[in-house]
This record gives sequence, structure tokens and C-alpha cells, in this order.
Amino acid sequence: MKTDIRVLLGERSYDIRVGPGLLAQAGGLIRPLLASPRVFVVTDENLERLHLSRLRDSLDAVGIENHGVVLPAGEQTKSFAHLESLLDAMLEARCERGTTVIAFGGGVIGDLAGFASSILLRGVPFVQIPTTLLSQVDSSVGGKTGINTPQGKNLVGSFYQPRLVLADTEVLGTLPERELKSGYAEVVKYGLIDDAEFFAWLEDNGAAVLGGDLGARAQAVLTSCAAKARVVSADECEAGQRALLNLGHTFAHALEAETGFGEGLTHGEAVSIGLVLAFELSARLGHCPSGDVQRLRRHLDALGMPAGLPALPGVEWKVERLTAHFASDKKVKDGRVTFVLAKGIGQAFLSSDVPPEAVAEVLAKAVAALPRP
Ligand code: GLY
Repeated sequence: MKTDIRVLLGERSYDIRVGPGLLAQAGGLIRPLLASPRVFVVTDENLERLHLSRLRDSLDAVGIENHGVVLPAGEQTKSFAHLESLLDAMLEARCERGTTVIAFGGGVIGDLAGFASSILLRGVPFVQIPTTLLSQVDSSVGGKTGINTPQGKNLVGSFYQPRLVLADTEVLGTLPERELKSGYAEVVKYGLIDDAEFFAWLEDNGAAVLGGDLGARAQAVLTSCAAKARVVSADECEAGQRALLNLGHTFAHALEAETGFGEGLTHGEAVSIGLVLAFELSARLGHCPSGDVQRLRRHLDALGMPAGLPALPGVEWKVERLTAHFASDKKVKDGRVTFVLAKGIGQAFLSSDVPPEAVAEVLAKAVAALPRP
């Protein structure tokens, strides 16, 4: 099986390596890319407990001097306050332009460390070592970095590409089931966008991917990264087709905003529900056969993935409140929301003339389907 993929961006092209055991080889794989044998590792408390020593041993083994910080785990770390303290720590550790930053963690660490790398000394090189399914198949690839602000998620950030992505699929073995399922929603997304064959493969192999089969996991991560690499190589800064990667995300962001971006609903759970809503909307507008919506629901249900709005304490789902969140979506242009719709499984397209009534009807149906208290 091929285990590396190249993101083609001229001089800024880079490799994504996928497979079990890469953490132990990280030092040797990173060493040839370094301007000087010094790195600064950004990670979180969970990774420190479970895997950091393996990374540090592999850096030590090839003579790479390594410093770093351990940040609290969780979405609240993607803040201005943590960005400031991270930059302080980097400067105090005497990071230079030739020092490479290693983002070792999930999406929060990757986004924060990537953003800090893009502004420290006007830009230092960075390497992504993603450790969650979600970050391996999505956030570590493609150079979107950033932090959250009180106004919303990821509204401050930069496009800044890593020099290398190392996705060690063995590390996924320590992920809680809920986190794995959250990442799996992004995997399904690639099948729905333009790869019906991959979706069919997931129907047969999704349980193995979630259940811990190393071969199936590596195959799912590779196929997802290859899809993302193709899109990013063609449209790095989301002038057009990269927006297809937002399938399900306009709905997902509204659901997350409504639940306060808290523990009640993870990003991946919101994406899982958002994918169904995007397909429901596509069917309502006459673009997509209802059979494909049912097929998507069946696949998610079979794996215990969320497909409808959950009843959560303190959350009263209301159509008007959900649609109000669309206005603060980053993808709004001239006041119009661009939705990713589909003509069927594997046939996504962009549309910025979706009638608001159709969106409201789809959301009303989702609210009506909530279990009665
Ligand atoms: N997560 C969507 C993108 O990277 O464009």
C-alpha cells in the first residue's frame, strides 16, 4: 500500500506520511527538513501522558535538541490568551527562524501551533503530527490555522502550510470512541463529496475503521488525505472548489454555536448531523434522490453516528436561532450563504442561491423529529 501523499504547492509542497509506528521514526523523518537541529514541540496534557516520551526519544536518537510546552487539552486552549503565552514560551526558549515547531496533538494544538508558527519571527517552519482521526484526515492538512474569539470559531488565523505531516495511525488506538466517531464524520464527508466508491468502501469497512483494524484505519486516513491534498493543491486559499470541503459544515457550525461549542456536541458530531441536513436540503431542492439521503442515514445509524438533532440539557432547538448563526459564517459573501449541496453520493457542488425557506423547512423537520420529553 502507498503510504505517502504529496500536497503540490510549488516551493511549499510537502509530504503526508500515513501508517502505524511513524512516531518512533519521527526524528529520522524530520531531521532532513531542519535548517538547524532544534525543534519546539507544542502538545497537550493527554499526549504528554500517553505518547510524548516516544516522540522525544526519537528526536533525541537523531540529535535533535527539543524544547516545548504542554497546554491544557480542549477547545478553550484555541484562544488569544493561550496564543500569547505560547508565543512567550517560544521566545523564552530562544526559538530562531531556523527552529522548527512541531504541533503534536489534535486539531486544537495543530491550529494554535500552526498559527503561532506563522507569526513568530514573521514565520518559522512547522511540522504537523496529528494524533486524532479528525486532525489526521482534515485539520492537519491544507494549512488552515487559527484561534477562536468570542465572535466565533476560527475567525482569526492564517493559511500557513506545514513542511511535513506525520499521521501515525497506531496512536489512534488510545482515542476515546466518541473522538473516533467525531473524526469519522470527516472521513464520510470525502466519500460524499466526490468519491462514491470510497463511500461504498466505508459501508463495508466503516465498522473495522472504528473498531481498531489497523489496515482499515490506514486505508481510510490515506484515502481522505489524498482527497484533501488534491483539493488543497488546486485551491489553497479557498477561492472556489476548496469550499466543497465544507459539506455539512454550515449546518454544523450553527449547531455548535447553539450548544456553546461545548462538550454537549463535538465538532465531528455536529458535522455528522450537518451532512444529513445538507443531503436533506439537496433532496428538498430536487437535486438529490431521497434514496441517497436514506443510504447516508443508514450508514451513520449502523455505526452509532449521530444523524439527527440530539436532546441536550439547556438547549432548546429553534429554527430562527439556528438560521441566525449562518450570518456569521466565514463563507458568507455579499450577505449570501454558500451551501454545499449534492446531486447524490459523491456529487457535491456549491450553491449560493438556496432559498432560505427551504433551509428553514429542513431545520423544522429536524426539530420536529426530536424525541418528545
Ligand atoms: N476543513 C476544511 C478545509 O481545510 O478547507
